[in-house]
Amino acid sequence: MEKEHKLNSIEELLEDNKFLNNILNGIKDAIMVVDKDYRIEGVNESFAKKVGKPKHEILGRHCYRLLCYLSKPCVHNHPCPVEEVFKTGKIAEVLHTYLEGHNVAYSRIIAYPILDDRGDVIRVVELERDVTEWKKTGDQLYNMQKLAFLGKLAADLSHEFNNPLSIILGFTDLLLEKTEHGTQNYEILKAVERQAFNCKRIVENLISFAASPDVTKYSTDVNKNLEGVISVVVDILHTEKIVIDKRLAGDLPRAKGNPGHLRQVFMNLITNAVAAMRGGGRLTISTKHNTAKNRVEIFFKDTGHGIKRKYRNEIFDPFFTTREIGEGGGLGLSVCYGLVFRNDGKITFETVTEEEDRENKGTIFTVSLPVAP
Ligand SMILES: Nc1ncnc2c1ncn2[C@@H]1O[C@H](COP(=O)(O)OP(=O)(O)OP(=O)(O)O)[C@@H](O)[C@H]1O
Ligand SMILES: [Mg+2]
Repeated sequence: MEKEHKLNSIEELLEDNKFLNNILNGIKDAIMVVDKDYRIEGVNESFAKKVGKPKHEILGRHCYRLLCYLSKPCVHNHPCPVEEVFKTGKIAEVLHTYLEGHNVAYSRIIAYPILDDRGDVIRVVELERDVTEWKKTGDQLYNMQKLAFLGKLAADLSHEFNNPLSIILGFTDLLLEKTEHGTQNYEILKAVERQAFNCKRIVENLISFAASPDVTKYSTDVNKNLEGVISVVVDILHTEKIVIDKRLAGDLPRAKGNPGHLRQVFMNLITNAVAAMRGGGRLTISTKHNTAKNRVEIFFKDTGHGIKRKYRNEIFDPFFTTREIGEGGGLGLSVCYGLVFRNDGKITFETVTEEEDRENKGTIFTVSLPVAP
């Protein structure tokens, strides 16, 4: 009778255990239980999957060794919620940012204390959830709110900015004509002109960024518009010790796209190339009719510092910039992307940094536009 009762309670225990395991394994967050020595006492299937090891290779190991490849608890790296719980006895929560290949990933980690009868923490349960998508949607929403605000601001201020800028540029031009080349005053006026042009470009970017898509059909003589933009920046290139190499195809058909928009794209790409070649370099601008694809292709090749691997996924994002505050708002490329994309065009780049290959460093941006119908 007693034996039967014992068997029944073992069966019940096994049932309970199975029930609990099913619950834990049904949870898609990675769960781990660690003791006071940071040894892993239990994990669920999501945890094993995330770590990429079977459970028997995980249990009994120190969490800092298995997860952070460290020889002692990770107090000095990023904040460790497990350590925090042992220290404070309270729930701890952190957002971890890490690289997954080339992409940034985010996970939210919450650690809960398990107390003994005296109220001391004897183990910690840690729950980890991948919140990358959620975080990105939140960031996008934040950027969209910024955009809506920017749209209104740009519309309100563009005229206010454009008029004084045109006056500054007009008077600077007038004074430049009356000033001897090569004198200090001439150089000062040139600097004023350069900065005013930069402001004009940023205001134009803001307006384009805020404006609703232009669906009017246009066609553009790409070579002529490139020449127009180059003539505006040729002095700047000279001052920056940048040699310009033009290789414009003679038989280029007209491309689909608004000429004003395309000039803005060219100006942004040239400005970026100039900024990447502090101390001088060579800017090669070429055009080509890709007959196989029936597209007009425009190449901007610089010998600048290149784009670091970690930034390559982000350069087209609005507000992404590596420049100092006041030097650029990070709208140039995202505006280029939008303006080109509206005309079924594409903009791509290839880049080599100094660290990758000192001899061949530099970046090529390629704008590919459909031939105008
Ligand atoms: N030719 C290039 N060589 C090296 N880095 C570049 C080049 N073009 C763009 N980048 C990188 O991409 C970032 C984003 O460029 P983008 O034109 O969108 O913004 P910005 O130049 O920083 O500011 P803005 O154009 O609004 O004045 C730059 O800050 C720079 O780090
Ligand atoms: Mg730029």
